[in-house]
Amino acid sequence: MEIRRFKPGDEAALFRVYFTAIHELASRDYSHEQIAAWAPANFDMVLWANRIQAIQPFVALLGNDIVGYADMQPDGYIDHFFVSGSRPRQGIGTRLMSRIHEEAASLGLSELRSRVSKTAQPFFALHGFRIVERGFPIVRGVALENALMRKGLAPPPRGI
Ligand SMILES: CC(C)(COP(=O)(O)OP(=O)(O)OC[C@H]1O[C@@H](n2cnc3c(N)ncnc32)[C@H](O)[C@@H]1OP(=O)(O)O)[C@@H](O)C(=O)NCCC(=O)NCCS
Repeated sequence: MEIRRFKPGDEAALFRVYFTAIHELASRDYSHEQIAAWAPANFDMVLWANRIQAIQPFVALLGNDIVGYADMQPDGYIDHFFVSGSRPRQGIGTRLMSRIHEEAASLGLSELRSRVSKTAQPFFALHGFRIVERGFPIVRGVALENALMRKGLAPPPRGI
């Protein structure tokens, strides 16, 4: 598996990952109405491209196939974290999480934070995140339960 940075032209493949992750994986934990609001089939692709270009995610590839993506903003906030609906529990999320931790270490960040879906909370907990507070953001008129999770990072060793 290769993890690389986002490249222009990835946008449509990343939408397929986002869409299938929500419709095939998160659908276990959310109602049909919630899933349709979170990832509508008629998502505006111009808005999508703008959003994905703004967050500049890391992209996971198996061969030529994009199978997952996740971002980390310069302040340690993780906005998107999705693995293709056809590829759960194959270690793709863990590779993306490791890449995020490498990036955080290289920037000297002291914490990572994310608003995490019910589906992803066990995965984030496994990677050392703890729930700070629960939230019910309204997305396209529908409440989607999530949780703010954070992880403190060890400070870099002091130089001599
Ligand atoms: C959460 C998600 C990113 C995990 O990606 P993944 O590639 O399946 O994760 P990994 O294979 O690296 O999983 C590592 C471990 O995390 C835990 N884990 C992963 N998914 C889990 C789940 N749905 N329930 C419980 N534990 C889970 C398991 O311990 C797993 O190890 P195991 O498979 O050996 O038991 C993926 O399921 C996903 O995209 N979910 C839907 C979209 C979503 O909710 N994204 C988050 C938005 S904030």
